[in-house]
Amino acid sequence: MSGLFITLEGPEGAGKSTNREYLAQRLREQGLDVVLTREPGGTPVAEQIRELLLAPSDESMAADTELLLMFAARAQHLAKVIRPALARGAVVLCDRFTDATYAYQGGGRGLPVERIAMLETFVQGDLRPDLTLVFDLPIEIGLSRAAARGRLDRFEQEGTAFFEAVRHAYLARAQADPQRYSILDAGQSLEAVQRDIDSLLPAMLERARG
Ligand SMILES: Nc1ncnc2c1ncn2[C@@H]1O[C@H](COP(=O)(O)OP(=O)(O)OP(=O)(O)O)[C@@H](O)[C@H]1O
Ligand SMILES: [Mg+2]
Repeated sequence: MSGLFITLEGPEGAGKSTNREYLAQRLREQGLDVVLTREPGGTPVAEQIRELLLAPSDESMAADTELLLMFAARAQHLAKVIRPALARGAVVLCDRFTDATYAYQGGGRGLPVERIAMLETFVQGDLRPDLTLVFDLPIEIGLSRAAARGRLDRFEQEGTAFFEAVRHAYLARAQADPQRYSILDAGQSLEAVQRDIDSLLPAMLERARG
């Protein structure tokens, strides 16, 4: 068994966490073993790294430090959660993964794509998500949804240009590989987004049972 690795991507407030729950419910109804997890984080050690990454600080974080911490957390998450779950044939639904690194540290921070690709190969070998849902929406809508939740984390404190670059990087990656990526219009009502997710379910179920 090889399991099925599905990632949910998109900027702050796009609805990744909300729809991850929805998708998990749909897949579990079909009798599938579903593991819900997130990045950065997903294990106790990786969640500690997450805290370092998200906490606003007086000392600015060098972009390479941020990149290496993301992959350090990912190495731990892969070893303890993702690879074991896939090995037993589970469906892993992960809220953010390496596409977020390309979008935020690549697009947002401007780090060279080759540097990210090198670490991706180092940490993941040839493991890549089977399917990636990109929740796309205008920056202002996502930020206002995130702001409504309260105190902003270190990323949420960035400006509009940063988030435009993040959005653009996500869309460029998704458009380059339509086999793996589905772009969802996350600016619609939640009901409409979930109808779009429902339309992707048959293909997911087929692959999960494949
Ligand atoms: N389509 C939608 N329409 C309106 N509100 C939505 C929609 N999807 C999600 N929300 C609401 O927006 C807020 C952010 O959603 P959610 O936490 O799922 O986003 P997220 O992508 O996980 O964000 P983050 O990256 O910050 O974790 C929540 O309060 C959620 O209920
Ligand atoms: Mg979330």
